[in-house]
Amino acid sequence: MLRIEDLTVEVAGRTVIKDLTLEVPKGETHVLFGPNGSGKSTLIKTIVGFSDYRVVKGRIYFKDRDITDMPINERIRLGIGVAFQNPPALRGVKLKDLVSGFLGRAGDELASLTRALNISNEFLERDLNVNFSGGEVKRSEILQLLAQRPEFVLIDEPDSGVDVENLERIGKVLNSYLSGSTGLLITHTGHILRYLNATKGHVIIHGTIACSGNPLRILTQILHEGYGWCEKCLLMGMRELH
Ligand SMILES: Nc1ncnc2c1ncn2[C@@H]1O[C@H](COP(=O)(O)OP(=O)(O)O)[C@@H](O)[C@H]1O
Ligand SMILES: [Mg+2]
Repeated sequence: MLRIEDLTVEVAGRTVIKDLTLEVPKGETHVLFGPNGSGKSTLIKTIVGFSDYRVVKGRIYFKDRDITDMPINERIRLGIGVAFQNPPALRGVKLKDLVSGFLGRAGDELASLTRALNISNEFLERDLNVNFSGGEVKRSEILQLLAQRPEFVLIDEPDSGVDVENLERIGKVLNSYLSGSTGLLITHTGHILRYLNATKGHVIIHGTIACSGNPLRILTQILHEGYGWCEKCLLMGMRELH
């Protein structure tokens, strides 16, 4: 469904993604692990089409269409939904304003989503991300994302800055949605995998995929040996972990 071929991306004159190839078939959930600064968020922003992220080589295909040069709004219309790592605070824009457009279409569904994410009516009335806690930011992002019913979800670190109870809520909601959808999730720590069944994992190091395979095995390796282990894989060219 999403196919990235030999992608090289420059940001502010520097190569951040290099010769990256990755495929997420329809119906699968993939997770992308990687140390800080390895290019995870850059990859998401490039898939979505931010103009600061310049594709200098390679192509991105979504549903067999070349979207590499497509404007952002067309990519979203094609079915890509995204939740960013650090969304901006918007004074004067309520969370409710952003999801109310979906209320008529899927009121019951939205109600069960807000319940599952423990989002109260008071919370829906608050200005978006203004003084939100880490968990509130993530729950609000997941609500906005899933309310749009995207065919493909891109989520940048749903588990960062989130406490245990909220992690469980977010993980279960995502797992349920992704059982009937497709997605690529970024996780630095892997915490979300306690609640989410991922099909496959990948590790990005210095802007390229160092290793792919069973997500829980990859996570175990990272927890035991740190991302230094993946640096070695990159050097040795070991790319599959079953
Ligand atoms: N808009 C930008 N302008 C300048 N540098 C950027 C920009 N976005 C990302 N970078 C740089 O690209 C590298 C990768 O960043 P990022 O993709 O955010 O890493 P990760 O999400 O894996 O922690 C970092 O060195 C970061 O400073
Ligand atoms: Mg990031």
